Amino acid sequence: ESEIQSLKEDITALKREKDAIILAHNYQRPEIYDIADKIGDSLELSLAARDARAECIIFCGVDFMAETAKILSPDARVYLPAEDTQCPMAHMVSESDIFSLKEQYPDADVVSYVNTSASTKALSDICCTSANAIEIVRSCASDQVIFLPDQNLASYVQRFSDKLIIPGRGNCYVHDRITPIMVDNMRAFHWNAPFIAHPECRPEVIDIADAVCSTSGMIAYCQDHPAETFIIGTENGMIERLKREIPEKRFYAVGGICTPMKQTTLDAVKDSLLSGAGEVTLEKSLIYTARGALERMLQISG
Ligand code: 13P
Ligand code: SF4
Repeated sequence: ESEIQSLKEDITALKREKDAIILAHNYQRPEIYDIADKIGDSLELSLAARDARAECIIFCGVDFMAETAKILSPDARVYLPAEDTQCPMAHMVSESDIFSLKEQYPDADVVSYVNTSASTKALSDICCTSANAIEIVRSCASDQVIFLPDQNLASYVQRFSDKLIIPGRGNCYVHDRITPIMVDNMRAFHWNAPFIAHPECRPEVIDIADAVCSTSGMIAYCQDHPAETFIIGTENGMIERLKREIPEKRFYAVGGICTPMKQTTLDAVKDSLLSGAGEVTLEKSLIYTARGALERMLQISG
């Protein structure tokens, strides 16, 4: 315990010395929350990265999030402290997939989920996150939208749109494994608890959800709702974040663990601050071409 405390103190001192801020996704380990300047969902963290005035940004999350931070704050040095932080879904679309979809649907707009590589963003008209996907698709001029790569999020957005949504072929292995039976089993114990799903869940799980929210949207929903107990359909780390924000309520998980999200440790963060390990580098031309799609998103929901 005292070792953890002294690591946290070292990190706090190094942050000041190096003019660094620490951004952490909601799925990070609780000890990472303690050293973060901002904890949030993908949209909140993109905004925090864009508005950061620090020389260094330490990103406690996965690869696409740190890349996004670099694209939006190219003059800052951005670090991803841990290795093996690839979000598998972000790599489920290739450039040739995009070219062939564009050929098939030449009039369609390309909306890419922020969970994509910089090269996918560079080929997209606009990005979205789970918090603003419906709004972003609505903002597109075309009545056809190629939506990459998450087919579950695409199908969720389709429920709210008359446009033709052409989905990619990706999904998130954590959310895609949640089934209605898992939810029903939990409901048997907590029969009056609202079930909140992340929009990366399968359609049959969305069908039985009381609410569908981004990770930070879940906090606001549980704060405002009169219930005392909730069933949470997303990555299980979210339970720690909810308990931290709303200690008087109870949360039960039906999700799984996102392994890449759990790679970041206090030791790795300290090492990045000390030795510069894990710096994110992107070609200037790629930063420039990928930036347009992100900036268009932030103009709409910034
Ligand atoms: P949020 O933007 O809702 O936090 O989602 C990010 C993510 O990776 C979900 O799996
Ligand atoms: Fe990627 Fe899923 Fe992990 Fe989110 S939970 S980072 S979408 S693998």
